Amino acid sequence: MTARLIRGRTLTFERMPQALDDHSAYRYESDGALLFIDGLIQEAGSYETVRAAAPEDVEEIDHRPHLILPGFIDTHLHFPQMQVIGSYAANLLEWLNTYTFPEECRFVESAHAARIATHFFDEMVRHGTTTAVAYCSVHKASADAFFAEALRRDMRMIAGKVMMDRNAPQGLLDTPELGYDETRAVIEEWHGKGRNHVAITPRFAITSTPEQMAAASALAREFPNLHIQTHLSENHDEIAFTGSLYPDAVDYLDVYARYDLLGRKTLFGHCIHLSERERQVMSESGSVAVHCPTSNLFLGSGLFPLKAIARGEHPVRVSVASDIGGGSSYSMLRTMDEAYKIQQLLGERLNPFESAYHLTRGNAEAVSLVDRIGTLEVGTDADVIVLDMAATPAMALKAEVVTSLADELFLLQTMGDDRAIVETYVAGRPAKSALPGS
Ligand code: GUN
Ligand code: ZN
Repeated sequence: MTARLIRGRTLTFERMPQALDDHSAYRYESDGALLFIDGLIQEAGSYETVRAAAPEDVEEIDHRPHLILPGFIDTHLHFPQMQVIGSYAANLLEWLNTYTFPEECRFVESAHAARIATHFFDEMVRHGTTTAVAYCSVHKASADAFFAEALRRDMRMIAGKVMMDRNAPQGLLDTPELGYDETRAVIEEWHGKGRNHVAITPRFAITSTPEQMAAASALAREFPNLHIQTHLSENHDEIAFTGSLYPDAVDYLDVYARYDLLGRKTLFGHCIHLSERERQVMSESGSVAVHCPTSNLFLGSGLFPLKAIARGEHPVRVSVASDIGGGSSYSMLRTMDEAYKIQQLLGERLNPFESAYHLTRGNAEAVSLVDRIGTLEVGTDADVIVLDMAATPAMALKAEVVTSLADELFLLQTMGDDRAIVETYVAGRPAKSALPGS
């Protein structure tokens, strides 16, 4: 049994804050502590009470004056796109065809996939992301490399072998049968091993034939507890192309609905240009719209109405994500800053508590894992981060005039990145300080 106690200011959410003064939405301890035993949070509360409950010989790490939060959760990214970040393209389809598909072809090589997987998990830990929902490439070897590395690091990850059988280079295509068989094999080999979760992952309607959609549908029926992830309504040309490929569907979402792919465990990346009908169907099915702000701005895809879509008569469940490598930062702080700016452009307010909620409990609820991650509740996974609002000289200068927790969260979001992550605890172990070169 390894027992570790960390001390600092702790913040965890119980629900979405409705306003800046909605203090009952969160719990904050100005001298707080967490006790980690065997990868779980065993005690949480004031330092005094946690210390009293801890074993005599507990290892104690004092992080004061820093802020302790649940680890960040990134609900959509592509692990084979680490070397695609910053590719100069006019729009989504040009970016996919010119840079992204050729790059993903390299993941047929297990050694390449393993090398990038190592870098991927290093970046997650460096940036304080303890759970990610990832697309691998079409190659089973890429999923094997991803899950093997996640298992080695004992991280809670959700990922899938991409299914795609048309409209891409030959080296990036499976078939309906192969996509089905290899996804099944990935599920059998990896789902539930360590903290791995396998997601059924048809890339998007453009790269899957109706036969492959039917295969994805069969998998979803056979494995109803698995997550499903795909892309939806990101770009106008993409939407028009999809309409031409599935002429019987009434809209883009209807393509997926016809194959029974909607539901509370389905994560739709982007969802920028949804019609009123699509919003209603998303809402009724409990499907999640995943907002990827740095990607949407980088590719010029559009301004996602995060606030508007989550309220009203047909509220849609939402989450936020980096979408590496259409997205340009691994940092969920940078991601949230761009989400904030998009809401500003749309005339909406996103308050700092709301933002911190989204990055932790909100994203955990979106992936239906709030019983395990996203809070500092006793009994959940000890995936926790420590943040320093004065991590850089410029941040330290601004921090001199910060007088409230809301100000501190807003400073972290506006100026912070991986440098603001002092430590990342994965299953109760300090993982960032253990990275090579740190
Ligand atoms: N739509 C289909 N594939 C992709 C991808 O890799 N990135 C983004 N941003 N959109 C997609
Ligand atoms: Zn994506």
